[in-house]
Amino acid sequence: MFMMRSILVAIVFMCSAPLFAAEHPICISLFSDAEVLGNNAAERIVEVIKEKQQAGQTSIVLGLATGNSPIPTYRALRKIFKETLLDLSSVTTINLDEYIGLATEHPQSYHTFMFNELFNELVATPENPRGIKRENIHIPKGALQTERDLSQDERALLNAQFPGPTGNLTKQEQILVAEHRANAYEALIKQVGPIDLQILGIGRNGHIGFSEPGTPFDSTTMVAKLTDNTRSVNAAFFDGNIQEVPEFAITMGIHTILQAKEILLIATGQSKAEIISKTLTSPLDPSIPCTSLRLHPRVSFYLDNEAASKL
Ligand code: F6R
Repeated sequence: MFMMRSILVAIVFMCSAPLFAAEHPICISLFSDAEVLGNNAAERIVEVIKEKQQAGQTSIVLGLATGNSPIPTYRALRKIFKETLLDLSSVTTINLDEYIGLATEHPQSYHTFMFNELFNELVATPENPRGIKRENIHIPKGALQTERDLSQDERALLNAQFPGPTGNLTKQEQILVAEHRANAYEALIKQVGPIDLQILGIGRNGHIGFSEPGTPFDSTTMVAKLTDNTRSVNAAFFDGNIQEVPEFAITMGIHTILQAKEILLIATGQSKAEIISKTLTSPLDPSIPCTSLRLHPRVSFYLDNEAASKL
């Protein structure tokens, strides 16, 4: 029923005209509110999965984001999975990013977010083998408090660079291991990819993933230092306390994101209106990372009325 309603209120609004030769138009779909947008984004995800399954593709790869923007999409996807025979057993998921320094089970880790918002109800079980196989769910590992958070390889890497007892890891030690994990994550994406459909949100400062302003367009998965702006926006998830927001994250780089076959960016609310307008009209510029999306041949923006209000 909700599918019918979504289709009726969704308006394909426009495709932006490319500003420079190397650019592609971005197709913009406008929705009456975040819920309807989420229903339509979930339907697009399902459509991609089914198209690939029908074409005989044995592994379908979804790139996933966290944050407020995709929550209605994930809710709709859970509903579709529950109420239909949708088969996710050939789906692999790759998340964009994870904070460095939070335990995996920390309430604000992106790992916790993804399991609460999506995977708990979508993961395959003996009773429901249509779900996503646990081993095909990938989220960068950000836990790096003590030596106990390290694999054997990581411990060896650390001992080679910083010999002596460790216990709690210093920031320098955390970054060293996180860089190692970022490189391994990039290799994993290459191995299981390419990503068929990448879901993105957008930061008010134009970040995609945690590729913050100034990140080169040719960047791959890396350790990113979060800007004060991002940390203060995300403090809302940490009882308003910016000191609790990690300073660093592992994130896909811009080049990594642009390797996806298709990209669907979700933006809702007035706070995104300015950056959505800049994404389409500013010159391509690493200081506004989202402008890089104009270099990709297949990008859709799903916007609510408020996010689209400055177009
Ligand atoms: C999340 C991510 C970020 C968010 C962005 C918008 O995995 O990579 O780029 O998409 O910060 O966050 P929300 O949706 O909370 O406004």
